[in-house]
Amino acid sequence: MCDSMNRKNKIVVSRGSPLANLMIIGEAPGAKEEEVGKPFVGRSGKLLDKLLQNAGIDINKDVYFCNVIKCRPPKNRRPTKTEIQENLPWLYQQIKLVNPRVIVLVGATALGAILKIKSRISILRGEWFNWEGRLVMPVFHPSYLLRNQSKEEGTPMSLTKSDFLKIKEKIDTLK
Ligand code: URA
Repeated sequence: MCDSMNRKNKIVVSRGSPLANLMIIGEAPGAKEEEVGKPFVGRSGKLLDKLLQNAGIDINKDVYFCNVIKCRPPKNRRPTKTEIQENLPWLYQQIKLVNPRVIVLVGATALGAILKIKSRISILRGEWFNWEGRLVMPVFHPSYLLRNQSKEEGTPMSLTKSDFLKIKEKIDTLK
């Protein structure tokens, strides 16, 4: 699976509960994720955990974290179309096995890979989509939020906080 990238890479599959109703799909592991062997454990992951927890979501019980790409791309570059195509069957298997009712697409790579929409996250974030019978919402990637930390109303950070409250409301209706 990592052949087109780097044969020495460690495969990063998941973190959280495989029984969760909520699946978070990111782009690809970074250096910290590769070292630990779990997705979203670096700076972006810490912010993502905080956003989920502030919305009242239990990150150990209610969430399953994974990525479109299972290996760290060289120099953390954006994955290529071919790499996304090669990794998609693994992601589809994860979705089938975990069977989440709600999926959150974190960033443009996850948005394009699942919904096949090439659009700006800023336009689609916070909206619910239906994908193969599941509710799907795109949100800003936490690495973008780390670069835009203002909490003023209308900023990416404040919009994302309200997106996660909307997600929490939705998963509560499924319990
Ligand atoms: N960014 C991602 O998209 N996924 C991770 O696992 C870490 C950072």
